[in-house]
Amino acid sequence: MQKFMIVGGNRLNGTVRASGSKNATLPILAACILNAGKSVICEVPRLMDVSVMKDVLVYLGAKVSWERNTIEVDSSNVQPIEISEELMRRMRASNLVLGSLLGRFGHVVISYPGGCQIGSRPMNLHLKGLQLLGATIQEKFGYITAKADRLVGADIHLDLPSVGATENLMMAAVLAEGVTTIRNVAKEPELVDLQNYLNSIGGRVKGAGTDTVKIEGVRLEELKPAHHTMIPDRIEAGTYMVAAAITGGDVTVTNVIPEHLEPLVAKLREAGVDVVAGDDCVKVRGNGRVKAVDIKTMPYPGFPTDMQPQMMALLSLAEGTSVITETIFENRFKHVGELRRMGADIRVEGQTAIIKGVDKLSGACIEASDLRAGAALVLVAMAVEDGTVLENVQHIDRGYERLEVKYNALGARIIRVHN
Ligand code: UD1
Repeated sequence: MQKFMIVGGNRLNGTVRASGSKNATLPILAACILNAGKSVICEVPRLMDVSVMKDVLVYLGAKVSWERNTIEVDSSNVQPIEISEELMRRMRASNLVLGSLLGRFGHVVISYPGGCQIGSRPMNLHLKGLQLLGATIQEKFGYITAKADRLVGADIHLDLPSVGATENLMMAAVLAEGVTTIRNVAKEPELVDLQNYLNSIGGRVKGAGTDTVKIEGVRLEELKPAHHTMIPDRIEAGTYMVAAAITGGDVTVTNVIPEHLEPLVAKLREAGVDVVAGDDCVKVRGNGRVKAVDIKTMPYPGFPTDMQPQMMALLSLAEGTSVITETIFENRFKHVGELRRMGADIRVEGQTAIIKGVDKLSGACIEASDLRAGAALVLVAMAVEDGTVLENVQHIDRGYERLEVKYNALGARIIRVHN
């Protein structure tokens, strides 16, 4: 277990570069299984979650080398062996190998990923879609077994635009016979990146970023090695933008695609923060105390649930009362208790949090319950005058590359302590 000792009160100033997107890297690494050959992936963030996905690939028989931010995968010798509970427990997103293993081998067994800190997170949409592609699914003793001779293209309508289900089904359909149309899909930028990777190995996928994705199935022999560069991480970039706002600083975040940040930029501007977008950077300047705003999390291009805790941190110091409604995950207010320990005035009623902004918060001994909750608590700790001890920072390491190093270079004072 590691913790952060944070002394707040400094305005953050300078330039920080966003890393490659975690949520785009995980499905693309899973998709490396499909081509039974080599893939070189650049701008891969060095994160715990990526390391778990690498371990899953190695466990399945892939050769993987990871130098700095480039991963090379050779999936020639991958076998569809059962994925143990131990690996699935380390990261829920390990379930993303379901579609690629089933597409390539017609057989996959994984331990059921179960719920997590932020919600129950079922897999019914993944499994229903795979069944429509012709797979037989068995759920027994906590394991999911999916089988098919060869998947066959189908028309699939998702009940809701699940990111993971869209990704698994896109990967499975690449090697299916015939055309698959998936409607009501997730439109997140990470889906567009997955489509680009799949097309670079010889898949025929179009429509990602819209409501409907169409995949024309190809044969394994038609797939080829690929070289792909990850898109920037919009959530990491967004967190640095809020850091500038909450500390009253002046920060330029580089390596971003400003269009991906629009839902956040709109809310920051509404709160009175100065945001100027360039071609591949965004400059954020805190402008005194922010104004209260209301936020409802929605699938992209709505406001991202992965930025909700960070915005709540900012709004706990706003002038006026803000209302945040969380519509994606049922248990994503774990940071509220910790923010209250720091003096925030927040009331939760069901899926809604009512945040009465206060003038000042103070340091405390607090705990990160999950990745984005942890990121939000670091934000508040940097904004208060006194010291904070934040426990369980391993959650933060799942999704932020060298977080304290990047913040300290902007003027923060964060020390990582190994217990
Ligand atoms: C991904 C992201 C996560 C982000 C989330 C929503 C990755 C690795 N993780 O998670 O950071 O917070 O998108 O933007 O990319 N659902 C079902 N049945 C299913 C699948 C999902 O009911 O079969 C529900 C979930 O419980 C949740 C909602 O759909 O309420 C959205 O989940 P989903 O989009 O699937 O999220 P993930 O892909 O798990």
